[in-house]
Amino acid sequence: MSIIASNFKTNHTRKSTATFVKEVNDFLVSSKITNDVYIFPTSTSLDTFDSVSNLTMGTQNAYATVKGSFTGEIGTEQLDEFGIKTILIGHSERRHILGESQEEIAKKFVFYKELDYKIIYCIGEPLEVKEAGLEKTLEYIYEQFVGIDTNYENLILAYEPVWAIGTGVTATNEDITSVHSAIKSQIDKPLLYGGSVKVANVAEICKLEGVDGALIGTASWNVEDFKQIIENTKDL
Ligand code: 13P
Repeated sequence: MSIIASNFKTNHTRKSTATFVKEVNDFLVSSKITNDVYIFPTSTSLDTFDSVSNLTMGTQNAYATVKGSFTGEIGTEQLDEFGIKTILIGHSERRHILGESQEEIAKKFVFYKELDYKIIYCIGEPLEVKEAGLEKTLEYIYEQFVGIDTNYENLILAYEPVWAIGTGVTATNEDITSVHSAIKSQIDKPLLYGGSVKVANVAEICKLEGVDGALIGTASWNVEDFKQIIENTKDL
Protein backbone atom coordinates (compact mmCIF):
# COMPACT_ATOMS: atom_id res chain seq x y z
CA MET A 1 0.00 0.00 0.00
CA SER A 2 1.53 3.27 -1.10
CA ILE A 3 2.20 6.15 1.23
CA ILE A 4 1.18 9.43 -0.42
CA ALA A 5 2.28 12.73 1.10
CA SER A 6 1.61 16.30 0.03
CA ASN A 7 4.08 19.01 0.98
CA PHE A 8 2.35 22.37 0.58
CA LYS A 9 5.63 24.27 1.04
CA THR A 10 4.65 28.02 1.01
CA ASN A 11 1.28 27.51 -0.67
CA HIS A 12 -2.38 27.71 0.32
CA THR A 13 -4.00 29.88 2.96
CA ARG A 14 -5.55 28.75 6.23
CA LYS A 15 -8.96 28.80 4.53
CA SER A 16 -7.99 26.96 1.36
CA THR A 17 -6.06 24.40 3.41
CA ALA A 18 -9.16 23.60 5.48
CA THR A 19 -11.23 23.13 2.31
CA PHE A 20 -8.52 21.00 0.70
CA VAL A 21 -8.10 18.74 3.73
CA LYS A 22 -11.84 18.19 4.11
CA GLU A 23 -12.23 17.37 0.43
CA VAL A 24 -9.40 14.84 0.47
CA ASN A 25 -10.68 13.24 3.66
CA ASP A 26 -14.22 12.96 2.26
CA PHE A 27 -12.78 11.41 -0.90
CA LEU A 28 -10.84 8.81 1.11
CA VAL A 29 -13.93 7.94 3.12
CA SER A 30 -16.36 7.74 0.20
CA SER A 31 -13.95 5.79 -2.03
CA LYS A 32 -12.89 3.51 0.83
CA ILE A 33 -9.26 4.18 0.01
CA THR A 34 -6.89 2.99 2.69
CA ASN A 35 -3.60 4.50 1.46
CA ASP A 36 -1.56 6.25 4.14
CA VAL A 37 -2.09 9.90 3.20
CA TYR A 38 -0.22 12.81 4.78
CA ILE A 39 -0.64 16.54 4.29
CA PHE A 40 1.95 19.08 5.41
CA PRO A 41 0.41 22.59 5.30
CA THR A 42 2.13 25.85 6.25
CA SER A 43 2.52 26.47 9.99
CA THR A 44 -0.17 29.16 9.83
CA SER A 45 -2.65 26.63 8.46
CA LEU A 46 -2.20 23.99 11.16
CA ASP A 47 -5.38 23.25 13.05
CA THR A 48 -7.15 20.46 14.91
CA PHE A 49 -8.99 19.33 11.74
CA ASP A 50 -11.55 17.61 13.98
CA SER A 51 -13.54 16.04 11.16
CA VAL A 52 -10.45 14.50 9.58
CA SER A 53 -10.39 10.77 10.15
CA ASN A 54 -8.53 9.07 7.31
CA LEU A 55 -5.39 11.10 6.79
CA THR A 56 -2.59 12.51 8.89
CA MET A 57 -1.66 16.17 9.22
CA GLY A 58 1.98 17.00 9.80
CA THR A 59 4.20 20.04 10.13
CA GLN A 60 6.77 20.99 7.49
CA ASN A 61 9.13 22.18 10.19
CA ALA A 62 9.49 22.96 13.87
CA TYR A 63 12.38 23.91 16.11
CA ALA A 64 13.84 21.40 18.59
CA THR A 65 12.13 23.04 21.52
CA VAL A 66 8.93 23.09 23.54
CA LYS A 67 8.91 26.90 23.46
CA GLY A 68 11.37 29.75 23.83
CA SER A 69 13.06 32.60 21.98
CA PHE A 70 13.46 31.34 18.41
CA THR A 71 11.93 34.06 16.25
CA GLY A 72 9.89 32.73 13.37
CA GLU A 73 9.96 29.12 14.58
CA ILE A 74 7.36 26.95 16.31
CA GLY A 75 7.85 24.30 18.98
CA THR A 76 5.86 21.48 20.51
CA GLU A 77 3.71 23.81 22.59
CA GLN A 78 2.22 25.07 19.32
CA LEU A 79 2.05 21.60 17.75
CA ASP A 80 0.41 20.06 20.82
CA GLU A 81 -2.41 22.58 20.56
CA PHE A 82 -3.44 20.84 17.33
CA GLY A 83 -2.39 17.28 18.22
CA ILE A 84 0.27 17.28 15.47
CA LYS A 85 2.68 14.35 15.92
CA THR A 86 4.21 14.16 12.45
CA ILE A 87 7.10 16.20 11.08
CA LEU A 88 9.19 16.55 7.93
CA ILE A 89 12.90 16.79 8.72
CA GLY A 90 15.85 17.37 6.38
CA HIS A 91 13.96 18.70 3.38
CA SER A 92 16.40 19.98 0.75
CA GLU A 93 14.81 23.45 0.73
CA ARG A 94 15.62 23.75 4.43
CA ARG A 95 19.12 22.37 3.89
CA HIS A 96 20.00 24.48 0.84
CA ILE A 97 17.83 27.59 0.97
CA LEU A 98 17.48 28.03 4.75
CA GLY A 99 20.97 26.71 5.45
CA GLU A 100 20.13 24.00 8.00
CA SER A 101 23.26 22.02 8.75
CA GLN A 102 23.40 18.25 9.26
CA GLU A 103 24.19 18.94 12.91
CA GLU A 104 21.04 21.03 13.36
CA ILE A 105 18.97 18.49 11.47
CA ALA A 106 20.28 15.64 13.63
CA LYS A 107 19.50 17.63 16.78
CA LYS A 108 15.95 18.16 15.53
CA PHE A 109 15.63 14.46 14.70
CA VAL A 110 16.76 13.39 18.19
CA PHE A 111 14.35 15.84 19.84
CA TYR A 112 11.30 14.73 17.85
CA LYS A 113 12.24 11.06 18.07
CA GLU A 114 12.25 11.32 21.85
CA LEU A 115 8.68 12.61 21.63
CA ASP A 116 7.67 9.67 19.40
CA TYR A 117 6.84 11.83 16.40
CA LYS A 118 6.41 10.16 13.06
CA ILE A 119 9.35 11.55 11.11
CA ILE A 120 9.54 11.78 7.34
CA TYR A 121 13.27 12.24 6.85
CA CYS A 122 14.42 13.63 3.51
CA ILE A 123 17.69 12.99 1.74
CA GLY A 124 18.88 13.77 -1.77
CA GLU A 125 21.81 15.02 -3.81
CA PRO A 126 22.28 18.21 -5.87
CA LEU A 127 22.91 18.04 -9.62
CA GLU A 128 26.70 18.29 -9.50
CA VAL A 129 26.84 15.26 -7.20
CA LYS A 130 24.48 13.25 -9.39
CA GLU A 131 26.68 14.07 -12.38
CA ALA A 132 29.68 12.66 -10.51
CA GLY A 133 28.01 9.22 -10.53
CA LEU A 134 26.15 6.75 -8.30
CA GLU A 135 29.02 6.13 -5.90
CA LYS A 136 29.42 9.85 -5.14
CA THR A 137 25.63 10.22 -4.90
CA LEU A 138 25.43 7.46 -2.29
CA GLU A 139 28.39 8.89 -0.38
CA TYR A 140 26.60 12.25 -0.28
CA ILE A 141 23.35 10.65 0.84
CA TYR A 142 25.02 8.60 3.59
CA GLU A 143 26.48 11.85 4.99
CA GLN A 144 22.87 12.96 5.44
CA PHE A 145 22.34 10.06 7.84
CA VAL A 146 25.04 11.26 10.25
CA GLY A 147 23.44 11.61 13.69
CA ILE A 148 20.19 9.98 12.52
CA ASP A 149 18.87 6.81 14.17
CA THR A 150 17.81 4.83 11.11
CA ASN A 151 16.33 2.12 13.33
CA TYR A 152 13.77 4.52 14.78
CA GLU A 153 10.43 2.78 14.54
CA ASN A 154 8.39 5.83 13.46
CA LEU A 155 10.69 6.67 10.58
CA ILE A 156 9.77 7.06 6.91
CA LEU A 157 12.50 8.09 4.47
CA ALA A 158 12.05 10.22 1.37
CA TYR A 159 14.61 10.28 -1.42
CA GLU A 160 14.26 13.63 -3.16
CA PRO A 161 17.02 14.45 -5.62
CA VAL A 162 17.46 18.23 -5.42
CA TRP A 163 17.69 18.60 -9.21
CA ALA A 164 14.27 16.97 -9.61
CA ILE A 165 12.43 19.14 -7.09
CA GLY A 166 10.11 21.69 -8.63
CA THR A 167 11.92 21.47 -11.96
CA GLY A 168 9.54 19.23 -13.89
CA VAL A 169 12.50 16.88 -14.43
CA THR A 170 11.57 13.60 -12.76
CA ALA A 171 14.39 11.17 -12.02
CA THR A 172 14.40 8.24 -14.42
CA ASN A 173 13.15 4.88 -13.21
CA GLU A 174 16.74 3.70 -13.30
CA ASP A 175 17.96 6.65 -11.19
CA ILE A 176 15.24 5.96 -8.65
CA THR A 177 15.72 2.20 -8.41
CA SER A 178 19.48 2.34 -8.16
CA VAL A 179 19.42 4.81 -5.26
CA HIS A 180 16.42 3.17 -3.58
CA SER A 181 17.89 -0.32 -3.70
CA ALA A 182 21.19 0.93 -2.27
CA ILE A 183 19.44 2.72 0.61
CA LYS A 184 17.11 -0.23 1.20
CA SER A 185 20.07 -2.59 1.45
CA GLN A 186 21.30 -0.52 4.43
CA ILE A 187 18.09 0.72 6.03
CA ASP A 188 14.89 -1.28 6.40
CA LYS A 189 12.33 1.55 6.40
CA PRO A 190 9.57 2.72 4.06
CA LEU A 191 11.20 4.86 1.36
CA LEU A 192 9.28 7.46 -0.65
CA TYR A 193 10.41 9.13 -3.85
CA GLY A 194 9.95 12.88 -4.36
CA GLY A 195 10.82 15.26 -7.19
CA SER A 196 8.42 16.28 -9.97
CA VAL A 197 5.99 13.45 -9.26
CA LYS A 198 2.82 14.10 -11.28
CA VAL A 199 -0.62 12.63 -11.86
CA ALA A 200 0.72 11.01 -15.01
CA ASN A 201 3.79 9.31 -13.51
CA VAL A 202 2.91 8.60 -9.88
CA ALA A 203 1.65 5.06 -10.47
CA GLU A 204 4.65 4.06 -12.54
CA ILE A 205 7.00 5.42 -9.87
CA CYS A 206 5.15 3.80 -6.98
CA LYS A 207 5.28 0.43 -8.76
CA LEU A 208 9.08 0.49 -8.90
CA GLU A 209 10.99 -1.98 -6.74
CA GLY A 210 11.98 -0.30 -3.47
CA VAL A 211 9.52 2.60 -3.77
CA ASP A 212 6.91 2.70 -0.99
CA GLY A 213 5.14 5.88 -2.02
CA ALA A 214 5.64 9.51 -3.01
CA LEU A 215 6.26 12.88 -1.39
CA ILE A 216 4.76 15.45 -3.72
CA GLY A 217 4.99 19.23 -3.95
CA THR A 218 3.71 21.10 -7.00
CA ALA A 219 1.39 18.44 -8.42
CA SER A 220 -0.35 17.96 -5.09
CA TRP A 221 -1.48 21.55 -4.53
CA ASN A 222 -4.53 21.26 -6.74
CA VAL A 223 -7.06 19.14 -4.87
CA GLU A 224 -8.43 17.40 -7.98
CA ASP A 225 -4.91 16.40 -8.98
CA PHE A 226 -4.08 15.21 -5.48
CA LYS A 227 -7.22 13.07 -5.36
CA GLN A 228 -6.29 11.65 -8.77
CA ILE A 229 -2.79 10.87 -7.49
CA ILE A 230 -4.32 8.96 -4.58
CA GLU A 231 -6.75 7.19 -6.93
CA ASN A 232 -3.91 6.19 -9.26
CA THR A 233 -1.96 4.59 -6.43
CA LYS A 234 -4.73 3.10 -4.32
CA ASP A 235 -3.97 -0.52 -5.18
CA LEU A 236 -0.18 -0.21 -5.23
P1 13P B 1 7.88 18.87 -6.42
O1 13P B 1 6.86 17.77 -6.43
O2 13P B 1 7.31 20.23 -6.63
O3 13P B 1 9.02 18.56 -7.32
O4 13P B 1 8.48 18.92 -4.93
C1 13P B 1 8.91 17.75 -4.33
C2 13P B 1 9.18 18.02 -2.91
O5 13P B 1 10.10 18.74 -2.57
C3 13P B 1 8.27 17.43 -1.92
O6 13P B 1 8.76 17.59 -0.63
